[in-house]
Amino acid sequence: MSIFRELQDHQTVRQYTRAAGERLPRWVLPVIVTLVVVSWIPLVFIAKSRVTKSDVPRIQLIPDMDQQPKYLAQTASPLFADHRAMRPPVEGTVARGELDDDDLLLRGKVDGNWSTTFPFPVTMEVMHRGRERFNIFCAPCHGLAGMGDGMVAKRADALQEGKWVPPTSLTSDVVRERTDGELFNTISNGIRTMPAYGPQIPVGDRWAIVAYMRALQRSQNASPNDVPADHQSDLR
Ligand code: HEC
Repeated sequence: MSIFRELQDHQTVRQYTRAAGERLPRWVLPVIVTLVVVSWIPLVFIAKSRVTKSDVPRIQLIPDMDQQPKYLAQTASPLFADHRAMRPPVEGTVARGELDDDDLLLRGKVDGNWSTTFPFPVTMEVMHRGRERFNIFCAPCHGLAGMGDGMVAKRADALQEGKWVPPTSLTSDVVRERTDGELFNTISNGIRTMPAYGPQIPVGDRWAIVAYMRALQRSQNASPNDVPADHQSDLR
């Protein structure tokens, strides 16, 4: 009985389904197909613009802050009377940290002459700093003791290319007689074939190197009397 019942139900469902299909008007199916095909057209355009180049900026649905107005260097601006987007410094002003009115500290000069003094007290800390900086920046050419026998000088000697000017011995009389200001200036701006180290070494470190150079000079030109009395016997 139950199998018969199920068969009957099944037939009823099929009858209903067919009835629903027959109730749809005939034009509905072609319209749906056409709409589906038409909906592909934007995809074709998107696919095409992904592989071709264009001068027109891309369409950004959510622009965030990707594009913002700005002036490039050397461009014009209607905002200012002279139409220059780049503005000159305001007359009579100095940018922060750009004030360079200390002749002694920055140029090693006092009243237009090379200074014979330091712009700050030479402490043990300054000497240590000077030795460290000297060994980094100067020793490659001038040697650790300043005698002009650094690795670069040795290598240039070995190559014998003929154009190398040997680094001056920093313990020679010529350099010993230079004033502190001159030595500072030599580091800052270079001299003859030696390049400038001002751009790489901060002002304070340059002075510290001068102080350490003085120590090297002293060490190579000392007499037994420079040794403290209670240590003089150790020399022999
Ligand atoms: C690239 C190699 C090189 C380095 C690094 C170098 N020097 Fe020199 N230096 C030279 C040469 C070469 C000369 C000789 C220049 C000449 O006579 O044309 C010289 C000359 C000098 C002189 C003699 C200047 C004079 O009054 O005649 C001093 C002082 C000096 N250097 C100090 C320094 C100090 C301090 C440093 C480190 C901050 C340094 N140099 C780094 C190559 C170098």
